[in-house]
Amino acid sequence: MSMDKLIDSLSSQGWYVWDDFMSLQHIQAIKNSIPDTLQDARIGRGDTLQGNKSIRADQTVWLEPEMGEPIVNYLDKMEQVRQELNCQLYLGLRDFETHFCRYPNGGFYKKHVDNPRGQGRRKVTTVLYMNETWQAGDGGELVVYDKENNQLFELEPLAGRMIFFMSEEFPHEVLPTQQKRESIAGWFLTEKLL
Ligand code: OGA
Ligand code: MN
Repeated sequence: MSMDKLIDSLSSQGWYVWDDFMSLQHIQAIKNSIPDTLQDARIGRGDTLQGNKSIRADQTVWLEPEMGEPIVNYLDKMEQVRQELNCQLYLGLRDFETHFCRYPNGGFYKKHVDNPRGQGRRKVTTVLYMNETWQAGDGGELVVYDKENNQLFELEPLAGRMIFFMSEEFPHEVLPTQQKRESIAGWFLTEKLL
């Protein structure tokens, strides 16, 4: 079962790609629940926008249950994953924050670590891809590196696919996309820092 594979891979190698995590039907329903107006992405919640356009060029909106049933279903699914990770791996995940991202043609996100030096609460990163018509040559691949910056793999942002990885351990980047590219990024958070 995929949940067991997720647990095994996350604990042994620190990442896992779950194809068909979500059905195309559910993805369509989520897309239809996203508000029309998105915001230029910031690097972290609360950071300033200035200068960030050279690092990332995408638009985002934080997801809330009030946006409708398809979003609630997604949040429920992620809550099941959170409980499973806590039961099996004792990760102490307390919360989940998640936003929808849209990269326009030409959009990218330069190499970064989601939780550098473990200073923040982000423990596990998740990215769900939502691009039904993706083809080779469209760009927009996620490139994942190890701690020594050796490239581990490249991933096409195919609809229904979800990647999980430990937020402190894997530098990654989004290559320039030749097509509109949509995804939902999420982070399981540890207890608030004192
Ligand atoms: C992020 C991120 C990767 C992707 O939002 O932090 O790295 O493939 N996203 O969309
Ligand atoms: Mn990231």
